[in-house]
Amino acid sequence: MQQSFASSLTHLHTDYLDSYVLHGPYSRRGLGAEDWEVWAAIESLYDAGKTKMIGISNVTADQLTLLCVKAKHKPMMVQNRCYAALGWDKEVREICRINQIIYQGFSLLTANSGIFAEPDLRAMAAKYQTGLAQIVFRFAQQIGMLPLTGTTNVQHMKEDLLSDRFTLLSEEIRQIETIGL
Ligand SMILES: NC(=O)c1ccc[n+]([C@@H]2O[C@H](COP(=O)([O-])OP(=O)(O)OC[C@H]3O[C@@H](n4cnc5c(N)ncnc54)[C@H](OP(=O)(O)O)[C@@H]3O)[C@@H](O)[C@H]2O)c1
Repeated sequence: MQQSFASSLTHLHTDYLDSYVLHGPYSRRGLGAEDWEVWAAIESLYDAGKTKMIGISNVTADQLTLLCVKAKHKPMMVQNRCYAALGWDKEVREICRINQIIYQGFSLLTANSGIFAEPDLRAMAAKYQTGLAQIVFRFAQQIGMLPLTGTTNVQHMKEDLLSDRFTLLSEEIRQIETIGL
């Protein structure tokens, strides 16, 4: 861990990181001895001031609860794939809200291609004169998420950054919350 962290610093030409994120626990259920060992190593990097924030990715609600209860330092951010069909990761987002953890949602577009044919979503895009991706990113922001985009296209990035120029109504938020269920 120490060696891999040091090599990241070298590659990024820096002597500290803003955020260091564990890719995920070893298994889909619970946390084993190896997870606690890795998390302790990440905590020690934070204690030494080598990273300003520590976080975890690909985590279930049960695993996150365990970390929040038992770890010396709770994660400061969580990065999860966010499926509309699973209520946009509602349970994990709620744990984040209670523990003041930043929730970063990823694959908001690629994990949810099915919802782009939904008339309700299309009607909102027409109403706000924007794209379907921007509706999803704005929805994510309004429910307290920090949306990640995976675009490699400058025009898409510019459009995505404009998604805070409109505000969805609470009934529209409710529609999107249940759109993939
Ligand atoms: N922690 C993890 O395990 C993990 C795993 C996977 C990904 N991630 C992170 O999650 C982030 C997003 O993941 P993702 O790639 O699945 O993202 P995404 O934002 O759901 O999808 C990006 C794809 O959608 C296309 N797209 C079309 N219109 C777009 C628009 N207006 N805005 C953005 N994208 C548009 C993009 O093509 P164009 O390039 O042509 O725009 C790209 O192919 C990345 O930063 C990645 O590093 C984390």
